[in-house]
Amino acid sequence: MKPSTIAIDGPAASGKSTVAERVAHQLGYLYLDTGVMYRAVTWAAIQRNVPLEDEAAVTDLARALHIDVVSPSVDDGRQYTVLTDGVDVTWDIRRPAVDANVSLVSTYRGVRAEMVRQQRRVAQGGRIVMVGRDIGSVVLPDADLKIYMDAAVEERARRRWLELQERSKPMAYDDVLAMMRSRDQIDSQRDISPLCIPAGAVVFDTTELSAEEVLAQLLALIERQGCPADE
Ligand code: DC
Repeated sequence: MKPSTIAIDGPAASGKSTVAERVAHQLGYLYLDTGVMYRAVTWAAIQRNVPLEDEAAVTDLARALHIDVVSPSVDDGRQYTVLTDGVDVTWDIRRPAVDANVSLVSTYRGVRAEMVRQQRRVAQGGRIVMVGRDIGSVVLPDADLKIYMDAAVEERARRRWLELQERSKPMAYDDVLAMMRSRDQIDSQRDISPLCIPAGAVVFDTTELSAEEVLAQLLALIERQGCPADE
């Protein structure tokens, strides 16, 4: 049987969301990029003047906020539409102010507990590709297939720098690199659910690979798992 729940983890700009979305599309599965949920909480806190260092207040907000990730409502290059309390925040959650603070917000235990609860509920029916930092390790430890995607930090910074240019939000490469290093450090050294290679994960290093190459390799892996001889 083909894997029904597919967990993909890895650091920022490792290529996981591009490939995950295409795998989900190809298989007719649901796709959830869980990073958008932490981003949505961060953006809502900024918008509502909730101090980001106030863990209790940010946690209350995370519990009260209604986050929906639905099919794209506008044809502007988005993979999905993100709504918080009904408001379209799809691009706002990509702002540098969110990039700079989302790692802090995602260290909060109560915020994580709430996000994990919602993510597990979405995954209940299977046929899902879920992307994040702790999917194979914490959210869906029994996932049928676990992937860990990585790439050299300089290459990941280059990809993010390019993305920002394309969205007319240019930033100096050195600043993007510094932010990437800082986020890597917070994400992999936090106490709760740090970014790690989950037990049983297949590791892809995408530094030298195009999105097409990674996609082809991942689809081949999924086909092999679905092969009767492997059952
Ligand atoms: O994948 P991304 O860059 O959109 O993720 C934004 C932040 O959210 C990232 O710095 C770490 C956090 N995150 C997390 O802690 N756990 C997840 N499952 C997904 C994202």
